[in-house]
Amino acid sequence: MIFWQNMKILGIETSCDETAIAVLEIRHEKFLVLSNIISSQVKVHAPYGGVVPSLAKREHEKNLVPILLAALKDSGISKIKLRIKKKPIINSILEREPVLLKQFTKCILPLKITDIDLIAVTSGPGLEPALWSGINFAKALAKLWRKPLIGVNHLEGHIYSNWLPPVVGINYKLSAISFPILNLVVSGGHTMLVFMRDHGKYKLLGETRDDAAGEAFDKVARMLGLGYPGGPAISAIAEQPIIKNRQSVIKLPRPMLNAKNYDFSFSGLKTAVFYLVKDIEKRNKKPIKQLSKLRSAIAKEFQNAVTEVLIKKTLHAAKEYKVSSVMLSGGVSANKLLRETLAREIQNKLPATNYQQPDLTYTGDNAAMIALAGYFRYIKNKATLKKDIKADANLPLIA
Ligand code: KG4
Ligand code: ZN
Repeated sequence: MIFWQNMKILGIETSCDETAIAVLEIRHEKFLVLSNIISSQVKVHAPYGGVVPSLAKREHEKNLVPILLAALKDSGISKIKLRIKKKPIINSILEREPVLLKQFTKCILPLKITDIDLIAVTSGPGLEPALWSGINFAKALAKLWRKPLIGVNHLEGHIYSNWLPPVVGINYKLSAISFPILNLVVSGGHTMLVFMRDHGKYKLLGETRDDAAGEAFDKVARMLGLGYPGGPAISAIAEQPIIKNRQSVIKLPRPMLNAKNYDFSFSGLKTAVFYLVKDIEKRNKKPIKQLSKLRSAIAKEFQNAVTEVLIKKTLHAAKEYKVSSVMLSGGVSANKLLRETLAREIQNKLPATNYQQPDLTYTGDNAAMIALAGYFRYIKNKATLKKDIKADANLPLIA
């Protein structure tokens, strides 16, 4: 039973390499994304082939204030300008973020905001230094504006991305997705099958024993000489036409496909790609980068292998747990092959099951999903909310 409350929620997400702030309005059981700003740090981390935590923190510190101002402007939230008064408490909250404190003092201290009812911030899992910059920023805002603050699990945020309206500014009613729901959460750090009985009620059915699916995409992309992040790069070259007889010689394993559980493992698949690339380079006496047809064929087979395992286990779990809906989420949910094949397979094999995937605006890290997950946590557990929010790099979805 949901006790709906009309409110506006400010969402803040800094768990990895995206600084994101959104304003979400809940009104008469409908959702409206008033603003959704995402600033990607991909260019900063690309030369290192992956995310560097200290650089991520530095970028968040630099970006949070301008992004908040832009988000407030986009959402039409009314701001009243006041005369700056010194706030020693803010100084102590932001003492470890000097760049942020300076901007905060200049641009945010003079603003009075009455329109926001709740602030939701990602508290984990993620990179701890990056998480802290968002948390401390949120704490300073909550203190200054005297608003309640709630910590949100990043993975729960991904799950809730499925309920967000497809376009910013469009009203959307929640009731379309019925419980129980099976969630396939596939991101850069996680691969999980999660049974969801109701809002906030989760049971972990299985997860990866080593690399996450997104991590495998990123590592394989590096082996193939493609850029970071690897997921979009692999799916782009996998779509290039390939020579038929070449494709058939490239065969990769489907790890744990037939194991009688819902766990995954992608590390062996990644190693298989490594040896395959070495072998092809040796036989052709050229680096894989110069063998574009073969490289596309490997990317295609790798993507097929990951997709096949994810989908087979998802269908199996959906049947066993007799769910009403299946939802896909996390960064890898942007993958075209995965989206199309999962949708088709569910339609063909489980026609009574509803299938939902997030709009492409919300597959990657964003703050609208954090605001929505925060809203549900807030209306369900207002009385038991933790007062002091801490960053937790390994925060489990099921506490
Ligand atoms: O959810 P996310 O943005 O960040 C984490 O919470 O980890 O996921 C990022 C991951 C990266 O590993 C990236 O390569 C992968 O999502 N990804 C994709 C695609 N777009 C992003 N993987 C496969 N195909 C894609 N189109
Ligand atoms: Zn994520």
